[in-house]
Amino acid sequence: MERTALTHTMARVPGPVTVVTTADGTGRRWGFTANSFTSVSLDPPLVLVCLAKTASTHQAFTSAGRFLVNVLAHDQEAVARRFARSGADRFAAGNMAPCELGLPGSPGACARIACTAHSVVDAGDHSVLLGRVVDTYADDRAPLVYHNRAFARPAAGTPATGAGEPLKVLHLADW
Ligand SMILES: Cc1cc2nc3c(=O)[nH]c(=O)nc-3n(C[C@H](O)[C@H](O)[C@H](O)COP(=O)(O)O)c2cc1C
Repeated sequence: MERTALTHTMARVPGPVTVVTTADGTGRRWGFTANSFTSVSLDPPLVLVCLAKTASTHQAFTSAGRFLVNVLAHDQEAVARRFARSGADRFAAGNMAPCELGLPGSPGACARIACTAHSVVDAGDHSVLLGRVVDTYADDRAPLVYHNRAFARPAAGTPATGAGEPLKVLHLADW
């Protein structure tokens, strides 16, 4: 399989935009932007996120006992960009606050999923972080979406998506 064809094709698959956070034994906070988040199992309740082995946060997350997945809302593109930036203090903006499990979280997120570490699966150039869900938060605000290597959000004027509502047209946000 040719790499460019794979990345081009996978870019067509829309996904959520999350910021995954944790804190280590010294209290240092860690976080990264991820669109590889998905649910895995209901019984037991498991979710996963994939983290590149080259990431500066890899050691912190593969040894963390717990982590918090913040599902970003449609107006949180700046948060997504900040937590993807290399070499920056991603928490410097000060808009993260202790949330579920006391972990740093975004009060503006439209959902949060708090996990204890279940296992770490070796998967090529990534590690799969499997988490057991221990607490959740959700509201009905529209999410931020990643599609075609750009951030997208539900079209203005449409209500937030909810159970049973029809699919909304997405308008690409300015990159
Ligand atoms: C929309 C978006 C989604 C991303 N998803 C992932 C992901 O699922 N897994 C991952 O390891 N990195 C992902 N990244 C990249 C990381 O956020 C981060 O940029 C990368 O770990 C490099 O950070 P570092 O220089 O501190 O190592 C994503 C970046 C963006 C902008």
